[in-house]
Formats: sequence, structure tokens, C-alpha cells
Amino acid sequence: MKKVFVQTFGCQMNVADSAEMLGALVARGAKETADIDDADIILVNTCTVREHAEHKAVSYLGRLEKWKAARSGRVIIFAGCAAQRLGEKLKKSYPFLDIIAGAKGIENFGGVLDESGLFGAEHGGDIIKKSTVTDFVTVMRGCDFQCSYCIVPSVRGPVKCLPPKDILAQVKMLVARGVKEIVLLGQTVNAYKYEGIDFADLLEMVAAEPGVERVRFMSPHPLYITPKLVDVIKNNPKIAKHVHLPAQSGSDKILKDMKRGYDAKTLLDKINALKNAGVLVSTDIVIGYPGETEEDFNDTLKLVDAAKFSFAYCFKFSPRADTPAASLKNAVPDKEVEKRLDILLNKIKGLAAAAYDSAVGTRQEVLVETPYKGRTSGNLWVKFPSKQQAGNVVTVLIKRSDGTLLYSE
Ligand code: 5AD
Ligand code: SF4
Repeated sequence: MKKVFVQTFGCQMNVADSAEMLGALVARGAKETADIDDADIILVNTCTVREHAEHKAVSYLGRLEKWKAARSGRVIIFAGCAAQRLGEKLKKSYPFLDIIAGAKGIENFGGVLDESGLFGAEHGGDIIKKSTVTDFVTVMRGCDFQCSYCIVPSVRGPVKCLPPKDILAQVKMLVARGVKEIVLLGQTVNAYKYEGIDFADLLEMVAAEPGVERVRFMSPHPLYITPKLVDVIKNNPKIAKHVHLPAQSGSDKILKDMKRGYDAKTLLDKINALKNAGVLVSTDIVIGYPGETEEDFNDTLKLVDAAKFSFAYCFKFSPRADTPAASLKNAVPDKEVEKRLDILLNKIKGLAAAAYDSAVGTRQEVLVETPYKGRTSGNLWVKFPSKQQAGNVVTVLIKRSDGTLLYSE
């Protein structure tokens, strides 16, 4: 039996895609191993959203030449977003690479394996997965936006939504394995639409599945934060009171240049609607987009102050080939970008601590993830004084906060 080692780079979507690709390998007789030296097949699932991510994936591939040479018959599969962007030309520099499977073809990954002729007639079973408290379900793939800095639409293609019946079947299967928290995934997950069923409807359907304790989703686009969606999140106790909503910038000029489709005021209105529904909001911010002035950056700081995000991922702008922003000449000097990033990270640290501190004295429903730790509905980590059973939901009084962790009674 062939053994496969999986190496995933990038976002949660890639984690879910890796599981799907592993499923196709297992169905062809392979078995997962956590030991790369023991493996016959390596599946590398890659990211290209920023140059650094792609570089990491490609340099990992470079190091696999020795691994492959150490034993005959070994197979290397390079999959995902960087594989989609670089394509067959990878084989010029890495002739030892066996299969390139780009992100657009994930649904047909099994077909790619069969065509390669590297997998025989051996039949396998299903993945035997360790049961986890949280698991991911992809509900849509691709993106129909064209943000000027972003390579995702070109490597993942246009939006394709999965039928609700397939999504619910997947949820049922996970619940039967003991999963309690379902995270619905999509590049612009709340743009979901399938024969009259929108994302708010889908959220309610998933939350109504017996055995589902909590539903989260990632990542929504601000334009699809509708009053209906806010109401559903507010009124359904199983839907987590946390939304990760990428803002990208707080400057109207930069948002327009980025082609995000909203200005800072529209965005703040949506954030406030969520916060008024009891939801904690976190975000993504890009620093140093070409032409970002001190004033633009200050507008981002103003937005961050007004929104009081519970957390933020901050990225330095990275020019990606063939995106409109890559050819812009007015780059912000790296020293300036570093300075701005520092200021922003400091502010975010303070806001994250404030989000933790403000939970002190409240009662929280916590989903237990490990014997001594769990997460609130708002996605804050809680430490328990005594051992708990993973998968249970416990109601606890929050006694104190150290700014990164809550301590319960
Ligand atoms: N440079 C820097 N950050 C980027 N992101 C997407 N494209 C780029 C880029 N070219 C960030 C955005 C997005 C997150 C997943 O990655 O903030 O929300
Ligand atoms: Fe990229 Fe914009 Fe689509 Fe998000 S919405 S994946 S940033 S193009």
C-alpha cells in the first residue's frame, strides 16, 4: 500500500482542499502518513496570494528532489494556487515533479490521478480521520470580484456554489464523526447563491442540523453583508457571534483604486450593524498599496479605531503578476511600509486585548476544544480551571483576562 504525506500551505480553503485530494488518493489505495521518510507520495498544496507564500511552496518543492531520489517509485504532486499559476513551466526547473494539479481543477483531481497512470487498479476506502471538534465544509469556490491587487480570481476562477444537499450531506457526515463546530468556507462565502437559496438561508439550514453546536464562516465580502444576514446571525444562537470581514483599507481613495466596491463609511455602517447584533468583527488589512499616502494610512487607522476590530491580519502589499496593481509605478518605499505596519500592529494588539478584557465578568458559552481550553462564540480563547470534555459546550463566568486569554471560574 502506498503511503501519502500531505504538506499544506496557505488558507483554510487549502486545508479543506487537501482533505478532498487526500480522499481521492485514499480511494485509489493510498494511506496517509505523518512521516515524510515513510511516504511514497507527497501531496504539496500551495498558495500564491503573496509572493512570499509562493516562494515558500516552490522552495519546499526544490528540497524534495533528494527525498524522491532516496527511494525508487516515489511520486510528487504539486497542487493548488501556485501550481495553477506556474503550471507546466514548473517541470522545466523541477523535472522530477510528477503531477501538477492546479486549484481550478480540484473537482477533477481523481481524474488527474487516473490519467497520470501512476495509480493502479488498487481500490481503497475512505479517509479514517481523527475526530476533531471543528471541521471545514467548502460551500463555494472561486471569486467574481476583481480586486486590483488580488491573484485569487485568476488562479481559482469564477464562483461555483455547491448544492445545499451536498453541503448538508457533508455536515451530517462530519457530525456523525463527532464534529461539533462547522466552518463554512468560500473565497467570498456570503455571495453564496444556489437556486434561490442565499447564504443566510444556508447558514440557518446548517445550524438546524441535529448535532451541530456552532456554525462559523470564512471569509465574507462586505458587499454581501445584508440586513437579512445580520438578523440571522443575531437571532440564531448556534451561529457564532464573530465575523472575519476583510476591510483591506480605510481610505476611500485606496478602496476605490483597489476596486473593493465600497467606501469607508459604507463599510463602517456594516461593521456597526454586526456589532449592534452582538458580533465581534475582525479583519484583513493591506498596507502600502501603491500610492498609499500618510493621509490614506491615517484613514485606515481611523477606521480601525472606529471599528474596534477584535483582531486583524495585516499584510504588506505584494505585487502579483498580471494583476492591475502589479504594474503601478508609485510604490510605497519599504521603510515607510514597515513603519506603518509597526504602528498598525501595535494598535491591533491593543484592540485585541480590549476585546478580551471586555469579556471579564460576563457569562460565556464555550465550546471545549482541548481539556483545558475552548472558544467563545465571539472567537475568544478561554482557559478552564479544571479538565473538560472536548466537544462539550459549557457556560462559564469569565474571571479575568491577560489580553490574549480569558480565565474562567
Ligand atoms: N498583497 C498583500 N496582501 C494580499 N491579500 C490578497 N492579495 C494580496 C496582495 N497582493 C490579502 C488580503 C486578503 C488576504 C487573504 O490576503 O488582505 O483578504
Ligand atoms: Fe481577492 Fe477581492 Fe476576490 Fe477577495 S474579493 S478573493 S480580495 S478578488
